[in-house]
Amino acid sequence: QGAGAGAGADFLVIGSGIAGLTYALKIAQHFPDRKVTIITKAAADETNTKYAQGGIAVVNDLENDSFQKHIDDTLIAGDGLCDPAIVELVVKEGPARVQEIIDWGAQFDKDAEGSYKLGREGGHSEDRILHHKDVTGREMERALLTAVENTPNITIIKHCFVVDIITQHHLGFLVTKSTPDISCYGVYVLNMETNRIEKVLSQVTLLATGGNGQVYRTTTNPFIATGDGVAMVYRAKGRIENMEFIQFHPTALYEAGRRGQAFLITEAVRGDGGILRNSKGEAFMERYDERRDLAPRDIVARAIDNEMKIGGTEHVWLDCRHMNQQQFREHFPNIYEKCLSLGIDVAMQMIPVAPAAHYSCGGIKTDAWGRSSIANLYACGECASTGLHGANRLASNSLLEAMVFAHRCYLDAARRFDTPGSLPEIPDWNATGVAEPKEMILITQSLKELQQVMSDYVGIVRNTVRLERAMKRIDLLFEETEELYRNTTVSPHLLELRNLITVGYLITKGASFRRESRGLHYNTDFPERSELLQNIVL
Ligand code: FAD
Ligand code: SIN
Repeated sequence: QGAGAGAGADFLVIGSGIAGLTYALKIAQHFPDRKVTIITKAAADETNTKYAQGGIAVVNDLENDSFQKHIDDTLIAGDGLCDPAIVELVVKEGPARVQEIIDWGAQFDKDAEGSYKLGREGGHSEDRILHHKDVTGREMERALLTAVENTPNITIIKHCFVVDIITQHHLGFLVTKSTPDISCYGVYVLNMETNRIEKVLSQVTLLATGGNGQVYRTTTNPFIATGDGVAMVYRAKGRIENMEFIQFHPTALYEAGRRGQAFLITEAVRGDGGILRNSKGEAFMERYDERRDLAPRDIVARAIDNEMKIGGTEHVWLDCRHMNQQQFREHFPNIYEKCLSLGIDVAMQMIPVAPAAHYSCGGIKTDAWGRSSIANLYACGECASTGLHGANRLASNSLLEAMVFAHRCYLDAARRFDTPGSLPEIPDWNATGVAEPKEMILITQSLKELQQVMSDYVGIVRNTVRLERAMKRIDLLFEETEELYRNTTVSPHLLELRNLITVGYLITKGASFRRESRGLHYNTDFPERSELLQNIVL
């Protein structure tokens, strides 16, 4: 499917996860006579969204819960760096957004009386997680894609890789970090069928490109999660914030020798009573935090990391043997089947689990309306840094954030771009003088090296020597990859490697600047929180 050389869209959306689809539906329904184009580099549903398990945190039961409790839980998890105004608006606007996705057809589990079943995850003081068994994201993605298919003025262009956003730089102007009016005019896209780079122009573009878990050796994220949006904005001299706050999920299924995407064992399993045990069978979490297995993720992930180091093991255990097995199978059918496929009967055996890179709290810096520092460019979902998560995201707050900000981007774009406008003359992509790449091994080996460096030196526990060492290795990978990029035709693998190196650089740079330990960033040379509350903007 081609993007179409010189094609244009009234509203351009990059990414077909919850953030991109929600925005596209809203803007298309508001302007039924205008053209909304979604571009995605893979199949439409191959997104982080599809893999979400636990659910969506939202205040639903006002008898037992309150907005203030959800706000407080979010602020506590964020460890001093959340923007309180953003937290309040996300929590308070959340129920209306969740009702909209229910109206679009998403189904959440209900009890026999017809009330929503509410799950509990780490850091939440009340049960407030709406879910669809243990495949909540798949259900939300399904409902959104069905609604999009039924909206005639939306086109989804699949298997097209956005290479860069177009700014004045592509018109021949010098653009630096201090250029005051950098503007976005659309994107250059690699059409994977023709292998040609085409331009898709638009007065207004939304980046909803998701996370960057693939920068680490083991991650819960699928292969699309390569931080492309963040890297593009950084290259375009836009602002990127707080990249050092990478959330490691405590309990990814451990499979010996596996790299890349790891299967998640949702925190909701611990919410329902699952207990972490070390290699000696001890329930160790009580030694680390009074909230034990349901402490916030940074604490649980660090505790597991420590137990693995003490025991010299590559995993710990999640014990579900004491749980009501019928309820387990009803709530977690996907996990039950996955474990069984590996010969693990959760009623009889414990599940081997280890932490894996899971979520990027930082990203493209945006304001309360999802506007990035580049004019006519919005960002929302996991690629954005809105101020909601601070130094650590509260479980199940990201699907909520994506929906709330998709709505706010839509409101702002509908106000500011209510009539079509003109764009400057944009040149075609300049691809002269590039040869076919000779050896794929140059790309795959560099990716492995990057993932190794990031996992070993910029993982759950950091220190100054490790960060300095990581930066040297990343600099070298950067130089080698830029040379490859200049001299060969681009391919999705090369583009992703290039973007991941940029993301690795931004995480390491942010981590080096942050001379304290806070939330997800833990540096043994600076174990205390600093007095200074600071967002690191690069
Ligand atoms: P995504 O859903 O990742 O979509 C990104 C889109 O951008 C994709 O379509 C991709 O192809 C496209 N794209 C990227 N780069 C390019 C490019 N260069 N060109 C073209 N297209 C591009 N959060 C919760 O709140 N609750 C949960 O229970 C939960 N569970 C999770 C479980 C797992 C295993 C994972 C991985 C995440 C979980 N999360 C959860 C986090 C949450 O799922 C994500 O943060 C959220 O879905 C991100 O949505 P998004 O729309 O921003 O991005
Ligand atoms: C999980 O289900 O444990 C993941 C929830 C999240 O990442 O918010």
